Amino acid sequence: MAKRKILITGGAGFIGSHVVRLFVNNYPDYDIYNLDFLTYAGNLENLKDIESAKNYTFIHADICNQDQLKDAFERHRFDSIIHLAAESHVDRSISDPLAFVHTNILGTVNLLNLARDHWAERKNENLFYHISTDEVYGSLEDGSVFLESTPYDPQSPYSASKASSDHFVRAYNNTYNLPVVISNCSNNYGPNQFPEKLIPLCINNIKNRQPLPIYGKGENIRDWLYVEDHARAIDTIFHNGKVGETYNVGGFNEWKNIDVVRLLCSIMDEKMGRTPGDSEHLIKFVKDRAGHDFRYAIDATKLKMELGWNPSLQFGEGLEKTVDWYLQNEDWLEHITSGSYRQYYLKQYEI
Ligand code: NAD
Ligand code: DAU
Repeated sequence: MAKRKILITGGAGFIGSHVVRLFVNNYPDYDIYNLDFLTYAGNLENLKDIESAKNYTFIHADICNQDQLKDAFERHRFDSIIHLAAESHVDRSISDPLAFVHTNILGTVNLLNLARDHWAERKNENLFYHISTDEVYGSLEDGSVFLESTPYDPQSPYSASKASSDHFVRAYNNTYNLPVVISNCSNNYGPNQFPEKLIPLCINNIKNRQPLPIYGKGENIRDWLYVEDHARAIDTIFHNGKVGETYNVGGFNEWKNIDVVRLLCSIMDEKMGRTPGDSEHLIKFVKDRAGHDFRYAIDATKLKMELGWNPSLQFGEGLEKTVDWYLQNEDWLEHITSGSYRQYYLKQYEI
């Protein structure tokens, strides 16, 4: 069999960097190509440990630029794609929806077109694997959960753009017989997450004794999964998922935001030698996010039963590992919290 050539988009971002590392280390026989435009969220420091691996190549390109993509496809002849590149932050989608239309919808359709054209004579290994989110299913109020069959009901510009890209992926499977698979995952946390998202933002602010901004009353619920567990799920689905199928990925781990932040405060008080209860005083309830989805809860039974995947870490354990990583990687945090992120932060939190 010919050597596998796998294109991973968005591999310099949070989840993408964990996926790239897993594939580069676990599959020395595969050639792994990380295509990333290095937006504010992309950071090659995330991949320092594997950047000189023989089976790893970085391609600096924009998925919205058809010429750059065409050039990369012609040069490297990828046989499969794991597509993670996206604008990923809900708050940014509220202030600049068009950026999400461009990257998440148009960028995805550009990739689909190239895959369709290059894989006209389909080979067994061809696969377009699209990484999506549970937010496409909308917001839950009651005790129900998101199943793969739950109708789409996106509520934010971010989730609307991801839902649209999912529809295009399925439409290319139906219309052009493109071999696709999709997974929809719940909230990830762990090392290398950009500090605009709740958990790393609070870790950074607790460390620096800055206010912890909680939207509304902090009652909203998210279902948290450690990022390396998501990367393992992606590995499993890539290798064993059925073409045309959708798999939900989640940690069976629902938490109210306020409880997540309180737990973080107590972990960090202990690790930083502060008096128990010290950091909780930093909690500050602020204006709610516009159209804030109340609750997400993923049912990942299909992935567990059909493909044998299970989350490996308890939440407390995963949060401790995450806090340790941020405390040990102060340079990483400092590099990205200076510069343009500072401007975003001041505007978003009206400081
Ligand atoms: P991220 O924002 O950390 O990283 C996104 C990456 O995409 C960055 O490296 C960025 O440079 C790159 N990128 C952005 N625009 C690009 C473009 N035009 N061309 C090429 N590269 C571009 O995102 P993340 O949190 O790692 O999420 C990755 C994927 O997983 C996204 O598709 C997201 O919707 C999905 N997802 C995320 C979560 C989560 O909790 N973070 C959960 C479920 C699904
Ligand atoms: O569910 C999967 C999604 O999870 C992914 O598709 C998205 O890419 C990812 O960003 C994440 O979306 P959320 O909006 O749930 O994540 P975020 O970390 O922004 O917010 C988590 C919760 O915390 C949410 O209810 C909003 C709240 N929040 C967030 C921030 C940034 C606050 O209360 N204060 C804040 O400052």
